[in-house]
Amino acid sequence: MRQTYSLVTGASGGIGQAVVRELSASGRVILSGRSIDRLEAIRSECGSPEGHLVWATDLADSATCGVALASFLNEHDAAIEHFVHCAGVFDVRLLRMIDWDDAYRMFNVNVFSAIEIIRQLSRKRVNGQALRTITLISSIASRIGTPGYHLYAASKGALNALARSLAVELAPEVRVNCVLPGGVETESTRAMFANEETLARMKASTPLGLGTVGDIASAVAFLVSDKARWITGQEIVIDGGRSIV
Ligand SMILES: NC(=O)c1ccc[n+]([C@@H]2O[C@H](COP(=O)([O-])OP(=O)(O)OC[C@H]3O[C@@H](n4cnc5c(N)ncnc54)[C@H](OP(=O)(O)O)[C@@H]3O)[C@@H](O)[C@H]2O)c1
Repeated sequence: MRQTYSLVTGASGGIGQAVVRELSASGRVILSGRSIDRLEAIRSECGSPEGHLVWATDLADSATCGVALASFLNEHDAAIEHFVHCAGVFDVRLLRMIDWDDAYRMFNVNVFSAIEIIRQLSRKRVNGQALRTITLISSIASRIGTPGYHLYAASKGALNALARSLAVELAPEVRVNCVLPGGVETESTRAMFANEETLARMKASTPLGLGTVGDIASAVAFLVSDKARWITGQEIVIDGGRSIV
């Protein structure tokens, strides 16, 4: 009998690590990112580290990442029950500064790799019929207009639309939802949080004050669980109220 896992991309990042901590407390996790060393270090901090696996891959190669995942699952006699796509490239620049190589990389990592992974996980030959939930980490940037955020916001808006379509196509076996975090401190937002003026503005415009990666991971854990059994195709905003002000 194949062992089932939660696959977490971006597991070496701030939000991804918090998701791994949540999900590894009650099940087996496959941690994905580019650096084996970083992933192994995170795995070693999980309870029962031997129960979890590490899959190192570059999701910028979106067309081939699914085949690589299929052979990884085959090699480990594993199947994916829950897929959480946390991997993401964040980049802010004005329209005149667009670099197409960077733009394609962003869409490959943020959007196309998720589609290819889901495509493979939906194939009986690759994953049996194990898949139950898909949770895509989007952003409130997909709903709020901010100068310089156009490509990033478009990539996250694509995830929101993807979740709605797939929620219908894959029902009733698989639930598909997006989580839209507001700004929380991680590697990719460190500069923002280090700027006192920006930080003060963020605090002032967030009714519940600043949140943490744990607040995002709690929402993911809920969506993955059976407590969310009647929730699909939704955009769940976790931002301390930032987007309603
Ligand atoms: N932090 C926020 O305020 C915030 C707000 C809204 C939405 N989000 C979204 O939340 C998700 C996680 O963000 P974070 O703040 O935790 O970011 P982070 O700490 O910078 O982590 C980013 C993760 O994405 C992975 N990644 C980047 N490029 C990759 C590639 N080419 N192939 C494979 N993996 C790659 C990184 O892996 P490596 O270790 O290999 O680099 C890392 O695990 C992202 O989708 C982000 O857009 C974040």
